[in-house]
Amino acid sequence: TGLDALIKAKGKKYVGFCADPGTLSNSQNAAILQTESGQLTPENSMKWDAIEPSQNSFNWGNADTLVNWAQTNGKIIRGHTFVWHSQLPSWVSAISNKATLTSVIQNHVTTVMTRYKGKIYAWDVANEVFNDDGTRRTSVFSTVFGDWTFLDVAFNAARAADPAAKLCLNDYNLDYSGSKLTNFVQLVKDLKARGVPVDCVGTQSHLVVGNGAIPSFGTTLDSLATASSDVQITELDIRTSSSPSSSQISQQNTDYTNVVSACMKRSTCTGITVWGVSDKDSWIPSVFSGQGYALLWDSNFSKKGAYNAFVAGI
Ligand code: XIL
Repeated sequence: TGLDALIKAKGKKYVGFCADPGTLSNSQNAAILQTESGQLTPENSMKWDAIEPSQNSFNWGNADTLVNWAQTNGKIIRGHTFVWHSQLPSWVSAISNKATLTSVIQNHVTTVMTRYKGKIYAWDVANEVFNDDGTRRTSVFSTVFGDWTFLDVAFNAARAADPAAKLCLNDYNLDYSGSKLTNFVQLVKDLKARGVPVDCVGTQSHLVVGNGAIPSFGTTLDSLATASSDVQITELDIRTSSSPSSSQISQQNTDYTNVVSACMKRSTCTGITVWGVSDKDSWIPSVFSGQGYALLWDSNFSKKGAYNAFVAGI
């Protein structure tokens, strides 16, 4: 039993959750993950600032703990993430020379992927490279390169380091059928057309209870599938007020069922990662003031209606 077993019985690869040593050390989290999860994504421990805080000085402790726990418990891992404007150490942001930044990206990707070679199912090689209006996000990467070819550098280095890992481009707010989705799909097509190894696309799916993007979630998945036949829901949560009304709770249940069943109806949607186990540890309240209640277990680790709604979608 458990969500992962249920979804695998219907032909999907996994249900996963984000985790890290901090949450894994809580026995209630660990027990839920053992039963419910087939995949773990490090919530923070493989981000650039965590793993290479100063140049060529690597901090493996938390990432190793996460990887060892996953392996001991038979869970696959989604690596997260290399080229991202956020949680990026200042020594990287300060680089202004293209040749230097190229070798810094190559060294980072190669060193991390080599350490975990054969242990990572899929990597978010790049994350959030678009603004919400569909333009290229300003970052040290886009500024120094002046075009998208920082992605070529990262994906090519990743393929060389661990040819068995699936390489994904990941982003958020792809749910609203606007320029961001259109341009994301086009970028993946362009990358593939020039031989850059992109195997999968990740749609984070940080959603809002009752939002119109949810009934059309399947259409979004269909658009993404025109770019890649491996579409992964990588960071699912559906937030609402941190103390929701009963109608918000029942809408959340409807929404979870809709998202999961949209994935189930499409062979191109291959797996679902939920961004946390319990509302106690969700990232939402710290970023979206007054909001929360976004996950499948409440702050006391009791299963919510959202859990049963997820099951109903499978
Ligand atoms: C979040 C984590 O959940 C937080 O603990 C951290 O403080 C900030 O990052 N998009 C992503 C994730 O790709 O890495 C982010 O995770 C949430 C938004």
